[in-house]
Amino acid sequence: MFQKIYNWFDERLGLTTIYNTTLDRKVPKVNWWFTLGSASLFLFLLQGATGILLSIYYVPSPDHAYDSIQYIMTGVSFGWLIRGIHHWGASLMVLVVFLHMLRTFYYGAYKYPREFTWVTGVVLLLCTLGMGFTGYLLPWNQRAYWATTVGTSIAETVPWIGPFINQVLRGGTDLSAVTLARFFSMHIWWFPAILAAVIGIHLYMVIRLGISHVPTAED
Ligand code: HEM
Repeated sequence: MFQKIYNWFDERLGLTTIYNTTLDRKVPKVNWWFTLGSASLFLFLLQGATGILLSIYYVPSPDHAYDSIQYIMTGVSFGWLIRGIHHWGASLMVLVVFLHMLRTFYYGAYKYPREFTWVTGVVLLLCTLGMGFTGYLLPWNQRAYWATTVGTSIAETVPWIGPFINQVLRGGTDLSAVTLARFFSMHIWWFPAILAAVIGIHLYMVIRLGISHVPTAED
């Protein structure tokens, strides 16, 4: 019965071919450091799932942001757990993505023909950091407010275009409702959309080129 249903879909969607090319690939002898890319992917999906749950109660306005988070922590069933996972998951994702980058660098996996995989990886690292920076403001507490004030002031020190960058980030001269709105938008739409698209390209190249092997003395 199940086999029949599977065959029906397989004939039309090519499920076996998709499975064979994505999950049943031949890999060289690797070690645990090669799991960090998949761990990054898992954390991205975890952050997405917990973030979607948080957005049910979070209100991105200066009047309600702080209180909505207090409510998530104390009034919503398991709200503290979802927020805790999202909070710690963010730091863990930055760490894991960074370690994944160090692994590919140390093993020379960025060399021909994987240069473009590395370039897309750099975009992924920058977007991951962007997610952390924009998410930090959302609780709208003292720490968030002043950390973002400092962060955007650092951007202002860039020669020539610094004040412009600061203005764009804050949406004015000071932090305001406009800053919170644009950080929220970047955090839940722009960066996740770019991350999802670039992860797709990154994984396509990993599948197309195959995983590199641990370099030997001859390499
Ligand atoms: C959200 C962030 C990222 C995700 C989800 C991700 C995911 C993955 C996965 C699943 C693999 C295959 C398994 C592995 O080698 O671990 C991989 C390979 C690779 N990644 Fe990433 N990655 C991310 C960030 C980065 C960064 C920041 C860089 C470097 C700047 C990078 C460079 C590479 C390279 C060069 C490979 C090929 C490795 C090989 O063939 O041995 N990735 N990535």
